[in-house]
Amino acid sequence: MEVEKSAEKSKKECRELKAEIERLKKERDAVIMAHYYQPEEIQDIADHLGDSLALARLATTLPNKVIVLCGVHFMAETAKILCPEKTVLCPDPEAGCSLADSCPAPEFEKFIKEHPGHTVISYVNTSAAVKALTDVVVTSGNAHRIVESFPKDEKIIFGPDRNLGNYINSVTGRSMVLWNGACHVHEKFSLEKILELKKEHPQALVLAHPECPRHILLVADKIGSTAVLLDFTKKSDKKEFIVATESGILHEMRKASPEKTFIAAPPADSTCACNECSFMKLNTLEKVYKSLLEMQPQVEVDEDIIEKARRPIERMLELS
Ligand code: 13P
Ligand code: SF4
Repeated sequence: MEVEKSAEKSKKECRELKAEIERLKKERDAVIMAHYYQPEEIQDIADHLGDSLALARLATTLPNKVIVLCGVHFMAETAKILCPEKTVLCPDPEAGCSLADSCPAPEFEKFIKEHPGHTVISYVNTSAAVKALTDVVVTSGNAHRIVESFPKDEKIIFGPDRNLGNYINSVTGRSMVLWNGACHVHEKFSLEKILELKKEHPQALVLAHPECPRHILLVADKIGSTAVLLDFTKKSDKKEFIVATESGILHEMRKASPEKTFIAAPPADSTCACNECSFMKLNTLEKVYKSLLEMQPQVEVDEDIIEKARRPIERMLELS
């Protein structure tokens, strides 16, 4: 009885919080954008849900004065670089990215100097300072196409994700020089456990994000960005999918295709939820509400970095 009462109370609090967020959104002329890896309750209140490419593109087209970017810090920075006149709120400023952190700008600059004459292509999962050192930014949704827009003999540095870089090298037959970075979530999927799941669900297709290492990609039936994988599940006539990317995407997949079964690929260490991005899960409804109330924390990027980082992101949007 007590448990029921407290569940009722928290449902009521949640409703009130959502109503307050709606009110503040109108008052501030704000729009909420969320990545597919966000906690479910945030995905459900978002005005726009998307992969990192869609979020970057949308930032430039939305008329609102304020963007609440529910994702990780580099996504909010990208929105700020593209729309410096807008206020970009990042509900939890601690929401970083292990992949972006694996590529500090001073070391990347040194790496570039060690490879003179190379075009620098950087994944969007990087700091603004790394983007400022870059010729063209890519996301997992357009990396293949953008790399292929360069002549076959173009010398290219690709950073920071070695898995995505290796995958693009393998599908294009190129030998891009790779920065040795990776994402802690995608590195941890267990091939053995995915193969066990395949035995239990022989009809299931394996879907994988290209941030997964090669041994996982080799057993994947479809490789793509979060948006590409989601779209694939909507169009496929198959009924079961084993999904090797951050488990937040399963929420939208289930909503879009309630008749289908989605199984989160397990990490090697089953004692932890390694298929969840701890950074992505830092955002909460309370933090979204507080950020709109206080108009903090705002994402700030130095003007000179904005100037240098903007062109490679715009180039990506033009090429994709
Ligand atoms: P997408 O570009 O597919 O949205 O992925 C972003 C990301 O952080 C993957 O880990
Ligand atoms: Fe970064 Fe990995 Fe989290 Fe994506 S899942 S935001 S790459 S740490």
